[in-house]
Amino acid sequence: MAPSIVAENSIVVSAGEQDQSLTDRNTFATRVAGKGADPEKKALLSAVTKRIDYSPKIGTELHGIQLSQLTEDQAEELAALIAERGVVFFRDQDDLDNSEQVKLGKRWGPLHIHPLVPHNQDNPEVIVLDSRLSPPTRFNTNDSWHSDVSFEPAPASFSILKFEEIPESGGDTIWSDARTLYDELSPAVQAFLEGLTATHSSDIFKVLTQSTGRKTFGKLNDSVHPVVRTNPVTGHKSIYTNPVFTREINGVTASESKWILDYLNNLVVQKLQYQVRFRWEKNSVAIWDNRSTYHTGIPDFSPFLRRGVRVTVSGEKPYFDKENSTTQAQGWEVKAKAIIAKQEAAGAAKEA
Ligand SMILES: [Fe+2]
Repeated sequence: MAPSIVAENSIVVSAGEQDQSLTDRNTFATRVAGKGADPEKKALLSAVTKRIDYSPKIGTELHGIQLSQLTEDQAEELAALIAERGVVFFRDQDDLDNSEQVKLGKRWGPLHIHPLVPHNQDNPEVIVLDSRLSPPTRFNTNDSWHSDVSFEPAPASFSILKFEEIPESGGDTIWSDARTLYDELSPAVQAFLEGLTATHSSDIFKVLTQSTGRKTFGKLNDSVHPVVRTNPVTGHKSIYTNPVFTREINGVTASESKWILDYLNNLVVQKLQYQVRFRWEKNSVAIWDNRSTYHTGIPDFSPFLRRGVRVTVSGEKPYFDKENSTTQAQGWEVKAKAIIAKQEAAGAAKEA
C-alpha cells in the first residue's frame, strides 16, 4: 500500500491506495430535501429563540437550535429555510462533531467526497480547511467567488461548514445571491441566457496537483450545466456560472464566452446588495444552498490560523424548467406586501 502522508491532526494530506477506491464520490440525490416541508416551518421556528435576517433576501441567523439534535421535521424545514434564505448561520454548535456533521448532511442527500481538498482520516466526507495546509491564496478558491464543486455531474446542494479554530480577527465569508443576479437582468438578457449551457471544470485542481504533486481522490471531473438553473425546493431561477469553475459558455465564440462570463462575474463581485457577510466565532456553523448562491472567503487573517470542517451534500443534476420556475423577486413581493399589511393592521388596531 502506498503510504499516506498523515499530518499531526489526523488529516490525510495525500491519498493512499485505499483512497483510490473512492469511485462513488459523487452521487445524485434521489429526493429533494426540504421540498414538501411545512411552509410555516412550525417545528423548527417554534424552537428558535431569536432570528436575525441579515438582509431582506439572503442570510438568516438562528439562535436556540442545536444542529446535533434536530428532529426529522426540523431537519426538513431547515433544508427548506436554507433554500429560501440562501444561507443560514448558527452559533455555539459545540456538540456538532465530525460524525454529527456527517449525520446531518446525510439527512439531506448523499455526501460528496472531494477529489483533492484534504479530508478527515476517519470520515472521507469531511474536508478540512486548515490554513496550515492550504495558506489562503486566490488559487485555493478562498478569495474567489464560487459555488461548491460545480464541476461535478451532481454538484453540491447544501454545504455545512463549521470553524473549530478562528483567527484573532478576519477570515469572514461573504455570500452573494445568484437569484437576485438573475432577477435584475433585463428580460431580453434573461431569455438569452436561459438558452445557454456552460462547461464547469476542475482545472484549478489539475493545476494544483501538478504544482504540489498531491494525488487526487478519484477523477477530476468537467461537467456541462445550464446557465440559468431552477432551485428544486423554491422553484426560483438563478444564474449558475461562477468565476472559479466555469470554463466557458458553450455554442458561442471564445471572446463572446469571456464577455458573458466577465459580465456576470463582475456583478457577483460588485453588487453589494446581493451580498451578506458573516463573522465567524469558534463553533459557528453556516449552511448554504450552492444552487442559488456564491461565496468567497476573505484571506486577510495571516499570520493567524484557522481550521474549519465542511460536509458537502450532493444535489440533483442541475436543470432549468422554463414552464415551472418562478423568481425570488416575485416571491419576495408577495411576502413583503403581506408583512406591510400586517404592520398596517397592527398600527390601525393600536390607534383604535
Ligand atoms: Fe466553497
